[in-house]
Amino acid sequence: MQRLLPIASGKGGVGKSVLTANLGLALSRLGKTVVLVDLDLGASNLHTCLGIRNKHPGLGSLVWKTERSLSALLVETGYERLWLVPGDNLLPGTANLEWNSKRRILKELRSLPADFVLLDLGAGSSYNVVDFFLAATSGLLVLCPEITAVLNAYSFLKTAAFRQLHRSFPEGSPERAEVLAFAGAKTEGSGQSFLDFAASLAARSPERGPAGLEGLKRLKPRVVMNRGRSPEDAELGYRLRDISGKNLGLGLEFGAFLLEDEGVARSIAARRPLLDLDPASPFARGVAAFAQRLALTPAEAPLPEAADYPTGVGAEAEAGSVQTLSRLAEEAFSSAYAATGSSVEAAPEMILGGEDLVASFRSGGEGGKD
Ligand SMILES: Nc1ncnc2c1ncn2[C@@H]1O[C@H](COP(=O)(O)OP(=O)(O)OP(=O)(O)O)[C@@H](O)[C@H]1O
Ligand SMILES: [Mg+2]
Repeated sequence: MQRLLPIASGKGGVGKSVLTANLGLALSRLGKTVVLVDLDLGASNLHTCLGIRNKHPGLGSLVWKTERSLSALLVETGYERLWLVPGDNLLPGTANLEWNSKRRILKELRSLPADFVLLDLGAGSSYNVVDFFLAATSGLLVLCPEITAVLNAYSFLKTAAFRQLHRSFPEGSPERAEVLAFAGAKTEGSGQSFLDFAASLAARSPERGPAGLEGLKRLKPRVVMNRGRSPEDAELGYRLRDISGKNLGLGLEFGAFLLEDEGVARSIAARRPLLDLDPASPFARGVAAFAQRLALTPAEAPLPEAADYPTGVGAEAEAGSVQTLSRLAEEAFSSAYAATGSSVEAAPEMILGGEDLVASFRSGGEGGKD
């Protein structure tokens, strides 16, 4: 069974593209057929990590229907069993893809005859990104050991959880309205976790609620801590897991802990994945071990698709308001953070759900208080 593996991050520049290229190569060396897809719309650069020139038609041609099938866009990478679907400039990064376009891309991706399809997503919590992330139960969430990256990762998870619940109900349904109202209310610290809310919704809505709750419970993103230098850095990942479990009811899984490695910059300059250039380097060894674990994990059935998700502009706006909320929280956090220079202390209440996370950082590791 083909495995679709979305790779996302709340904050940009944490190493998604480097990871995608190296992980893909590592899986191909385990005998798997792998397709790497550059879904960082508008800012694609995965081809560069692989030393491929950007002259091939990419995903934009599929969206604009100049190309009829995704398999026509496959580019050889020069590595056995490893293929690339490049991004391209036909798709501005800010453009929100219509739900139907996303669905079509996903359908094509799922029909590719590969063992693994890795999606290099853009940074942040826009719903283009979140919807592709939710195409699998266990997408990879990449972060590095910086407080901003961890908080943005939390914000991403929160958006994903809301979006997952929201999209499990039909357009115009009272349940969707309730999910939005809950997202809009300041609930953190009020005692009711998101999971409690989803459970009470399921109890009140026996027809559709339990499936929505089930989808949420099946969501188990894998955290990849990149650029780690010390065991304390791994702790940050564990704290994110604790807080996400408590506030969002999400069961995060450990993906990998990858080391800071000066070889990564060299490999980008050389336009060759580090796994190829220097397989004995710490980063390459970490990725190779991760690939082995992934290859051994059985495939999971995808989350149910929201077949009737809105396509009109007004409907997208409704669907997007969950995401907007999260973005506003991030922006509020960023500006408060910038205004104070360095301290996180100024901002805890400004990011949704950030209070507990920041308290956990302050307590220096005793962690999520629970
Ligand atoms: N383990 C590592 N050790 C050292 N440097 C690293 C490591 N991982 C990534 N980097 C550096 O971080 C930079 C950003 O990596 P990359 O482009 O993969 O991030 P990204 O998450 O894809 O960014 P964007 O959000 O812009 O797409 C790279 O130029 C690379 O030099
Ligand atoms: Mg990238």
